[in-house]
Amino acid sequence: MTTPGFAPEWLALRERADAEARAAGLVEELRPTLNRTPLVVRDLGCGTGSMGRWLTGRLDGPQHWVLHDRDPRLLSLAGAAMTGPSTTVETREGDLTALTAHDLEGTSLVTASALLDLLTADEVNRLAAACVEAGVPALFTLSVAGKVELDPTEALDAEFEAAFNAHQRRVVDGRRLLGPDAVEAAVAAFEGLGATVTTASSPWRLAADQAALTAEWLRGWVDAACEQEPALVTEAPAYLRRRLGGVNAVVAHTDLLAMSRAD
Ligand SMILES: C[S@@+](CC[C@H](N)C(=O)[O-])C[C@H]1O[C@@H](n2cnc3c(N)ncnc32)[C@H](O)[C@@H]1O
Repeated sequence: MTTPGFAPEWLALRERADAEARAAGLVEELRPTLNRTPLVVRDLGCGTGSMGRWLTGRLDGPQHWVLHDRDPRLLSLAGAAMTGPSTTVETREGDLTALTAHDLEGTSLVTASALLDLLTADEVNRLAAACVEAGVPALFTLSVAGKVELDPTEALDAEFEAAFNAHQRRVVDGRRLLGPDAVEAAVAAFEGLGATVTTASSPWRLAADQAALTAEWLRGWVDAACEQEPALVTEAPAYLRRRLGGVNAVVAHTDLLAMSRAD
């Protein structure tokens, strides 16, 4: 069964905002360093393949994509949706946190989108070590950054934001998730291994033309905050009703490009 939060319907709803948010400048920085044919790109936690649909056209020449996810339903959707005259695809079902430098041999680029904040510090350290040891650049987009700006503002916004951020850092099955600390942890891991890291802001900008996404995101944001901080449950229904009545949102994310010396 697909994990709640990674439902294909939710991933489809956010795909346009994700595409508009990712920092294309990092791809411009990366592209001249990629000269193998075909490029072999691994997308970790591919979901339904949104990152591939965004990135294939921004890279040059024939590409072979290796899509990794532990969810077989999402993987089959991603495999079927990524076609093109010069793009081939294979899928790998399993836990991406077990990947080693050996597994990355022959890879031109490791990518991920909306993944790092779901990992632990140890998992990010291991992933960075695998990329650096294999000499493979990594482009990790759309990690949550822990800041939300709502317009118009309300006094309660900060309380919901703090509770949501604490929820993102919760312990799940004995794993402490990084949540908004993910990019800082990844930068430290890559730089500690001698890689050069560039980060760029990649916020969602949600206005009236993204009403369905804004509403779904707000419901999830408020629900997670209440799960974390039960004191907010009393305020939540009226707060949500007011926010669903019309709000613009800027939801901060960060993209990261790490190039190891051999790149
Ligand atoms: C938030 S979704 C992002 C999906 C896609 N990259 C996108 O941007 O639409 C996170 C994805 O990572 C996968 N995932 C999370 N942790 C994983 C792990 N340890 N091993 C394999 N897949 C994982 C989930 O199944 C899910 O498809």
